[in-house]
Amino acid sequence: MRQEEVTSWVQDAQAAFLAATDLDSLKAARLAHAGDKSAVALASRTLGSLTPEEKASAGKIIGEAKAQIAQALAEATAKLEAQRDMKVLLEEVVDITLPVNRKHRGGLHPISIIKNEVSDFFIEQGFSVEEGPELESGWLNFDALNIPADHPARTMQDTFFIEPVESGMVLRTHTSPVQIRSMLTQEPPIYVICPGRTFRADELDATHSPVFHQVEGLVIDKGITMAHLKGVLDNFARHMFGSDVETRLRPSFFPFTEPSAEVDIYFNNRWIEWGGCGMVNPKVLATCGIDTEIYSGFAFGMGLERTLMVRHGITDMHDIVEGDLRFTRQFGVGL
Ligand code: DAH
Repeated sequence: MRQEEVTSWVQDAQAAFLAATDLDSLKAARLAHAGDKSAVALASRTLGSLTPEEKASAGKIIGEAKAQIAQALAEATAKLEAQRDMKVLLEEVVDITLPVNRKHRGGLHPISIIKNEVSDFFIEQGFSVEEGPELESGWLNFDALNIPADHPARTMQDTFFIEPVESGMVLRTHTSPVQIRSMLTQEPPIYVICPGRTFRADELDATHSPVFHQVEGLVIDKGITMAHLKGVLDNFARHMFGSDVETRLRPSFFPFTEPSAEVDIYFNNRWIEWGGCGMVNPKVLATCGIDTEIYSGFAFGMGLERTLMVRHGITDMHDIVEGDLRFTRQFGVGL
């Protein structure tokens, strides 16, 4: 076994491994130059038949050749594996900027979000949520609330009357008729809120909409005072506007409450009118068959659009009613 011959096997193997362009061709080269039938393998199998001296020198030559071939193979393998990995990275790259064909699943309108928020807040405190019809009898919308036909308060709210006018039906101008419905159908103690859609013959402008939403609150129980009203409003305001908000009651007039007040909040460094409230007028309690010697109660009502606008600094009612997704999405509740 000549050194030159073995060296040429090694050189052939090195050249073949270098020439391999991918792991498959490297495998073929490995079988040919380092496999069982390669020249080195065959030569090393003949070692056994040599004399001890011949064996020692030939063994050394073969051993070195094998080590060099193994090293060349390892280097070529590492190089080609790295090339393969890079190729995979490039070929299988995901372009995250490509537009996807995603179906819009819809979302809640901010008014629905705030309505749910108010409802959850009061449900936690043991109130129930009542709903009444949007097409309401004039008696429930006005008379039972101590707003008789000739009462000036009736003109405070521009009403949509339903034809024929003799039907006495109106689109409810506020959620207060649901107070009456609750008192007519439930025995005190009564703890309800009534969120819902309300209607007034207003032009749509920055602060008005002919269709809007209110939430009404009503508590009827023994020994209810204005202090309870103030406490509930304080908590409600803090829940809606944050713990720093202050409330103030300003004397006012509503036919269905006596005394009546406007509730203002101090928010973003100014006083803002939020809604109306008061102690339920005993006349209203009597109309609903509630014993005014035993029970008293308070009520309040505020606009949900107004609440939303104040809280989020929305200056134009159009944004709330027009349903432009660019506005709605900012409130971020998906389905
Ligand atoms: N219903 C009144 C309105 O729409 C708001 C209101 C004022 C409701 C006082 C109340 C209340 O329950 O006590 O203008």
